[in-house]
Parts: sequence; C-alpha cells; structure tokens
Amino acid sequence: MKRMAVAATAMFAAAALALTGCSAERGGGAGDTGGSSDEAKGFAADATIGVALPDKTSENWVLAGQLFTDGLKEAGFKADVQYAPASNTVAEQQNQIQAMVTNGAKVIIIGAKDGKQLATQVQAAKDAGAYVIAYDRLIENTEAVDYYVAFDNFKVGELQGQALLDGLEERAGHDAPYNIELFSGSPDDANSAVFFDGAMKVLQPKIDDGTLKVVSGQTEIAQTATEGWLAENAQNRMDTILTGSYGGDTVLDGVLSPNDTLARAIITSVQQAGKPVPVVTGQDSEVESVKSIMEGVQYSTINKDTTLLVEQAIKMVGQLQKGEKAEVNDTEQYDNGVKVVPAYLLDPVIVTKENAEEAYANVPSLLDIVKSYE
Ligand code: BGC
Repeated sequence: MKRMAVAATAMFAAAALALTGCSAERGGGAGDTGGSSDEAKGFAADATIGVALPDKTSENWVLAGQLFTDGLKEAGFKADVQYAPASNTVAEQQNQIQAMVTNGAKVIIIGAKDGKQLATQVQAAKDAGAYVIAYDRLIENTEAVDYYVAFDNFKVGELQGQALLDGLEERAGHDAPYNIELFSGSPDDANSAVFFDGAMKVLQPKIDDGTLKVVSGQTEIAQTATEGWLAENAQNRMDTILTGSYGGDTVLDGVLSPNDTLARAIITSVQQAGKPVPVVTGQDSEVESVKSIMEGVQYSTINKDTTLLVEQAIKMVGQLQKGEKAEVNDTEQYDNGVKVVPAYLLDPVIVTKENAEEAYANVPSLLDIVKSYE
C-alpha cells in the first residue's frame, strides 16, 4: 500500500465523486476525509463507540480489547468491543460492523480481519453518519474510511530487516555469505506486504550482492506467506524448507519472521530438526518472546506498545466527539487503493537483549521480566 503511485488513483476518485455528485458529507455531518473543507460535527459525549477486532492470535489484540473497553468507558463513552470468532471470521466481522452501524455507533474502530472485504460495511457506517478509524491494519479500496491509526508498519519491516543483518554479523560465527529464509504474514492482512516491503528494502540489496543467500529460493511474498498468521502454518513451512534445502551440513543462519508468534514456531521447527537456532526476528513483544530474547534464543522483537496505540485511537474519538478533526501526522504514505488515508503513526522500537531494559522502560510488566534475567 505504502509508496504506491497515488496521484492517478486520487485524481480518478476525485473525478468520479464530482461526476456522481457525491461529496464527503455524511448523515450526521461531515468528517475529515483528508482534503474535505467541510467542518466536522460532533456527537454526544456518552455515545456508543464500536470496536471490531480481528482475532486473538497475538497478545496485542487481546490486550487491545481490554484497553478499549476500559479506556472508552473512562472517557465517558459506551464501548461495544467485538472480536471476530475463529471460524468464518470475515463474514462475522462484517456482521459485527453492520450491527454496530445499526445500533448507532458514532465511531467504529476496526482492526480488519481482511482489509479488502469491508468496503460495504464501512460505506454503511459513513452513510449512517459514523466515523471509521482503521486500527493497526489499513482498510482498502474504499473512500469511506476516515482515519488510520497505527505504528509505522513500513518502519517495522525496515527495523526487522536491519536486525536480521545485525544479528547475523553478531551471531553467525562466520563471515558472509549467510543462509537465510524469509517469512511474511497473512495475505489477507494489509500489513503483511508493508512489513515485507520494509524488510526487503534492507535485505534485497544484500541478496543481490551475495551477502545473503535464500537457500530455498523462496523470495516472493506469495511464497513466504503465513495464512491466518497461524503458528502451525509457519512451523510446517519451516519443516518443509529444512527438509528440502538444509540437508547435510547446510546451516540456516537467519530467518526473517514478521512477528513473535511465528518466530517461536520457526525456532521450534529448527530445534525439532536438531539444528542450531538461527538469528530470528519478531514483532509485538509477546511475553514468551521477551523471555526467549533474554535467554539468548530469539534475536529481536519490536515494541509496538498497544497501550499507546489504543490511547491515540481514543484521543481521536474524543476529538471527533467535540466536532474537531482528528489529529494526524501523515497524509502521504497509506494509500488504500482509492485514497490516501490520513494517518496518525507511532514510532516502533526494535528490541534485542542489549537494549531491552531501555526499550521497556515504560512497560512495567515487560521490564520486570527483563530485570528477572539480570
Ligand atoms: C499486526 C501485528 C501482528 C499481526 C498478527 C498485524 O496486523 O500489526 O502486530 O503480529 O497482525 O496478529
């Protein structure tokens, strides 16, 4: 999504709007659609705010649900927080969002299960006068999404790519070339390509100059994907690659893993194959991965402090409630296919054993874990 050639699509969308006579205006007033001159209108201070979250495959989503429930109530709103169930997830999330619209939610915050399949529901929200904030994952191919709040996910990928390089130099125990494998997230999550593109910006030149060798030859994102972000799918793929490409003395030096859940699955696969643990990256600062990093097993993770992200989203709701536009700090990078969605991006932090104490200085639960290894 990021860094797409946006000009042509944006012009097309503007022309289409002019032709159909549509405007950014909505039932209950007009929202900031990133270019509209209309003033935003507020809503009741105790309005219902819907929060639709995708699943519980990572700790960050579980925590986000709790924080939204508590934080929205504290801010005076009624919170309607829903997770899509493990089966039939996309259809269920569509139904949940539709129900939030019907029940009169004034803002709907969405962590999309499949960001390409929510255009109808998001449009229904807009038609009903509600604002839509895409949370952590972009919602694609619709004009009706008002804002995006996320950590800078392209930067997450860049940090992961750099950590893999740093870790290889530090731990591989030999000079380049290094044997590596690449993993990416679920193809239905818009973030997966953003993480991968960010990482490949760093890694591709090193593949091209021979510093890195992807022994399986699987370098296309479609080949590296992990359906549903499920640990078992990453573990199975790693098993298959080890059998097919790492027979005999061939050593796997490093693995690009897009998050912690998959990192631990990859490490398990390598351990079960009786091979030395490679340098493995991650993301989310999950408890088990922070422990693993402190034990010198997993190499890195990313701190995307969910508390800060939820706080920012709730802050945006507060601004919209008062009739203000929500504050954004990026209006260029996140093109959803038909518009560049105004975004508030937070800064992700790379974490290795070396800087863990500093990185988690404001996350007491993780800081305690780090200190217990001192
Ligand atoms: C989130 C990651 C998370 C992954 C799997 C992504 O969209 O940005 O933090 O690890 O989903 O849940």
